[in-house]
Amino acid sequence: MHGFQTTWVMLFGIVITVAATSTDGSPALLNFRPFNVTLSSLYFWVGSYFNGTAHFEFSPYAGLAASETAGCPVLRNKTITKDYKALLALTEPAIYNTANDPVNAFLTLWALGFDFGTIPESYITFDMLDSLEYAVYSSDPNFANDTTIIPNNFNWTLEKTQAPPYNLNSVLTDYQGTYPEQDGADDSIQVNSTIANCSGTEVSSWQFTPLSYNSTYNGTNFTDPVISIQFDGQTANLSMKGYASAVSEYKTGSAYQVGSVTFAGEFTLTFSGVIDLYHSDVLRNDMATPTWLRTVGYQNNSLNVGYTSGCGCLSVD
Ligand SMILES: *[C@@H]1O[C@H](CO)[C@@H](O)[C@H](O)[C@H]1NC(C)=O
Ligand SMILES: *[C@@H]1O[C@H](CO)[C@@H](O)[C@H](O)[C@H]1NC(C)=O
Ligand SMILES: *[C@@H]1O[C@H](CO)[C@@H](O)[C@H](O)[C@H]1NC(C)=O
Ligand SMILES: *[C@@H]1O[C@H](CO)[C@@H](O)[C@H](O)[C@H]1NC(C)=O
Ligand SMILES: *[C@@H]1O[C@H](CO)[C@@H](O)[C@H](O)[C@H]1NC(C)=O
Ligand SMILES: *[C@@H]1O[C@H](CO)[C@@H](O)[C@H](O)[C@H]1NC(C)=O
Ligand SMILES: *[C@@H]1O[C@H](CO)[C@@H](O)[C@H](O)[C@H]1NC(C)=O
Ligand SMILES: *[C@@H]1O[C@H](CO)[C@@H](O)[C@H](O)[C@H]1NC(C)=O
Ligand SMILES: *[C@@H]1O[C@H](CO)[C@@H](O)[C@H](O)[C@H]1NC(C)=O
Ligand SMILES: *[C@@H]1O[C@H](CO)[C@@H](O)[C@H](O)[C@H]1NC(C)=O
Ligand SMILES: *[C@@H]1O[C@H](CO)[C@@H](O)[C@H](O)[C@H]1NC(C)=O
Ligand SMILES: *[C@@H]1O[C@H](CO)[C@@H](O)[C@H](O)[C@H]1NC(C)=O
Repeated sequence: MHGFQTTWVMLFGIVITVAATSTDGSPALLNFRPFNVTLSSLYFWVGSYFNGTAHFEFSPYAGLAASETAGCPVLRNKTITKDYKALLALTEPAIYNTANDPVNAFLTLWALGFDFGTIPESYITFDMLDSLEYAVYSSDPNFANDTTIIPNNFNWTLEKTQAPPYNLNSVLTDYQGTYPEQDGADDSIQVNSTIANCSGTEVSSWQFTPLSYNSTYNGTNFTDPVISIQFDGQTANLSMKGYASAVSEYKTGSAYQVGSVTFAGEFTLTFSGVIDLYHSDVLRNDMATPTWLRTVGYQNNSLNVGYTSGCGCLSVD
């Protein structure tokens, strides 16, 4: 996909095989899966993986600043939506994480019908792929088999509980979509619509960029996006709400340009998914914080990728 504003820094480059750690029963230093199981980079970490769909919705801001749409009457009272195939990875934190979070959360959005089987095993880290349309990371994914310190993008609050389901909340202070300039995903959500651009002359596609708090947009304050996740061993739901700026985008020759009017509105991004047992470790059902029994790569869960022995030691119900 294109992206007029995208500057890609090939930070992670070509890589990577992964290795197990902590074979002695001590707390995990690293959360990488054993390298003897063949996986694409989507599944490098110990944790739960949920397959599902995501729904994006944008409504032009017509409250405190109804004037925002004055320059673009064609958008007034219209809701723009887009659906994605989506994957939510809720993975075990490791010593390289800079916050004391209960999980690392990676939500990735792909075109409907996208085939995850087309992502090569190792070699390419998924966030370098053009087919990744948008992503939300609580901390940046660490693809390296080491303790390279990884920045945290926002911190989770875990509601008190004795067992799953877990309920996580956060506020995305100064979050700029995906982490800037290090990935293949655009920082904005791109929608092909049948709505004309603000001049009303031709059908246009649109870009939506989540706004962080203290964006002053035409004299208005926008609060930070808020995000919440509920999950257990079977399903996960995510909701993110906030404000976004929107601009139309069109092609002149081979160059992409943006329209002359930018305006703001409210957005929601929701995800609902079911557990992918093939790629998931076993979430314990008796812990106050998310805790996994490692199985992927360890030959003790016949439902997992890479399982070869006939032992069937574990039955998951
Ligand atoms: C990963 O790191 C561990 C610990 O440094 C090392 O033992 C292992 O060989 C490494 N694995 C790979 C595939 O690089
Ligand atoms: C800001 O509001 C004024 C009217 O108060 C409007 O003319 C202008 O187009 C708006 N700016 C943007 C960027 O939408
Ligand atoms: C938008 O909706 C409001 C409230 O329903 C209505 O008063 C207004 O006329 C509508 N504007 C347009 C351009 O349809
Ligand atoms: C997240 O928590 C760490 C400490 O665990 C802190 O240093 C950091 O400022 C927090 N980040 C945010 C965005 O609150
Ligand atoms: C929009 O449609 C064009 C033409 O069909 C396509 O090339 C482009 O990839 C689409 N963009 C998005 C974000 O779906
Ligand atoms: C907005 O956020 C940035 C980044 O945290 C900060 O440096 C700046 O002081 C904030 N501006 C206001 C007006 O609060
Ligand atoms: C924006 O927020 C600041 C800090 O809370 C406040 O002083 C200011 O009055 C607000 N401006 C508007 C237009 O709401
Ligand atoms: C997620 O939402 C579905 C549909 O509403 C619900 O059945 C399920 O229990 C929810 N999962 C969690 C962990 O709350
Ligand atoms: C609408 O698109 C045309 C190109 O077809 C562009 O010249 C114009 O600036 C756009 N108008 C707005 C308001 O974005
Ligand atoms: C989830 O998606 C992955 C990747 O396409 C696939 O391998 C797996 O079988 C799916 N699992 C379920 C339960 O849909
Ligand atoms: C599977 O084996 C690994 C490595 O020995 C162990 O850490 C994990 O707890 C085992 N999982 C289960 C469900 O017993
Ligand atoms: C893969 O590596 C893990 C961790 O070292 C080990 O427990 C497991 O038995 C290995 N699996 C195979 C098939 O060699």
